[in-house]
Amino acid sequence: MSSRFYVVALDGGAGTGKSTTAHSLSRALNLMHVDTGSHYRAITRALLDLNISPGDAGGYLNKNKLPLSTQVIDGRSCLLIDGAGFEQSVLRSPEINESVSDFSSQASVRELLFDYQRTQVQVARENNFDGLVMEGRDIGTVILPDADLKIFLEADSGIRANRRIQDGESDQITNRDEKDTSRKIAPLIPANGCIHVDTGVLGIEEVTKSILDVIETLT
Ligand code: DC
Repeated sequence: MSSRFYVVALDGGAGTGKSTTAHSLSRALNLMHVDTGSHYRAITRALLDLNISPGDAGGYLNKNKLPLSTQVIDGRSCLLIDGAGFEQSVLRSPEINESVSDFSSQASVRELLFDYQRTQVQVARENNFDGLVMEGRDIGTVILPDADLKIFLEADSGIRANRRIQDGESDQITNRDEKDTSRKIAPLIPANGCIHVDTGVLGIEEVTKSILDVIETLT
């Protein structure tokens, strides 16, 4: 592998294995792992704590600033709001699973995160990573359309729902997917030129290897 800097965009629906794949790639190639789903979850938590509904998010964010910053912990970039981070158990609660798609369909929420997410490329450089892998729904289409590699993960919905059950999580994934794919702004769709990977049939080692094989050809 050469010393070039890799920008990998990893998109897919709920439970398609984005986080596991991104973690595995980040370890294999010293890439900073950016989970943009956790950004939407954190903003959702912050707005719910302020008693703001999805429909009121625009009005609130027009008048008030949510100061965003980053802390890199163990290869992972974590969003801080007003200097505070969020536990995974908080971000993945049933309440957040239920409302995150409604907040993330709001233009004001997406605008707030658009610039922040794009700054992550520089954060990865400053922290001496060899690139970054950013996972989400609109990374290859909107946030990093010039990524070196765009991957779209897919899996049968029954397999995805089972993964959530095995993780002990209450999450209506088909309901979220429906909202995420049908929204007007930055819907979940495969980016032009992306590589489709079915994580329902392949194990994580095979998924990672198939992506590493493609990255190898980029050098
Ligand atoms: O990846 P996740 O399941 O943690 O994402 C939670 C929600 O955040 C998802 O249902 C839709 C939203 N999201 C988004 O709209 N755009 C992204 N790039 C990432 C997540």
